[in-house]
Amino acid sequence: MRNHPQLVEMLPEAILRHGPRRFMDYLAQEKGFDTEHHTETCSLVQKTVYPKELRNLEHGSGYQAAFTDVIVYSFDRVIRHNKLHQKQSLRLRFVDIGSGKGKALIIAHSYPFETIVGIEYNQDLCEVARRNLSVTKCGRAELFCKDILEYDGFGSDTVYFAFNPFDEPLTKKVAKTVECYGNVYFIYNNPTYKEVFRDWQLIDRTVGYCPNRDVDIYYRHMIS
Ligand SMILES: C[S@@+](CC[C@H](N)C(=O)[O-])C[C@H]1O[C@@H](n2cnc3c(N)ncnc32)[C@H](O)[C@@H]1O
Repeated sequence: MRNHPQLVEMLPEAILRHGPRRFMDYLAQEKGFDTEHHTETCSLVQKTVYPKELRNLEHGSGYQAAFTDVIVYSFDRVIRHNKLHQKQSLRLRFVDIGSGKGKALIIAHSYPFETIVGIEYNQDLCEVARRNLSVTKCGRAELFCKDILEYDGFGSDTVYFAFNPFDEPLTKKVAKTVECYGNVYFIYNNPTYKEVFRDWQLIDRTVGYCPNRDVDIYYRHMIS
């Protein structure tokens, strides 16, 4: 326990809210990923330790890594959908909105994405992500250490991944920008503001025993 402060921190929440199941998930999905890949993605970073001057700090969440199998399931689902709905094989770009310590970017390297991009406004997290990408030899990811509203690379034929990074107003702004383009997927893990995507096609919804296991996958074929 002495060497696992994270474990101690997680125990009361895990047992009180979700029982041993959440704790087992932590071991398998969060700690397990790091043990296998020699990375550091599993420790939480609370928003209280973020630099106060960050633009949109009040709208954002702190850092927590998404569950490995939720990411893998969502990527598989999107790639399958894309294959079924495209006449010619089409390679998609991947963008993690709020990429934290880079876990989804690392997993994205095992998929046929044309480009892999992470956007994260916390400089400390970007540095950890860079180390994690280097340790795992995931050299194709391009990391933008900036606020999501300063990113100007949105486009068509793209899979966006967002693990509940913002509150409703910012989620709305980002969705409005993203939906200007066609053939766009939005994987929304812990989808707290589903209403924002009411005009999108819901292609998959998973509801788990805890919010980290919930995922909606939305799609927009055409530009409206
Ligand atoms: C719940 S974490 C998800 C991390 C990562 N996507 C994963 O699944 O492992 C949400 C991330 O969004 C980042 N974030 C929040 N607001 C942001 C903003 N305005 N611009 C860029 N990143 C932001 C946070 O710093 C945090 O790292």
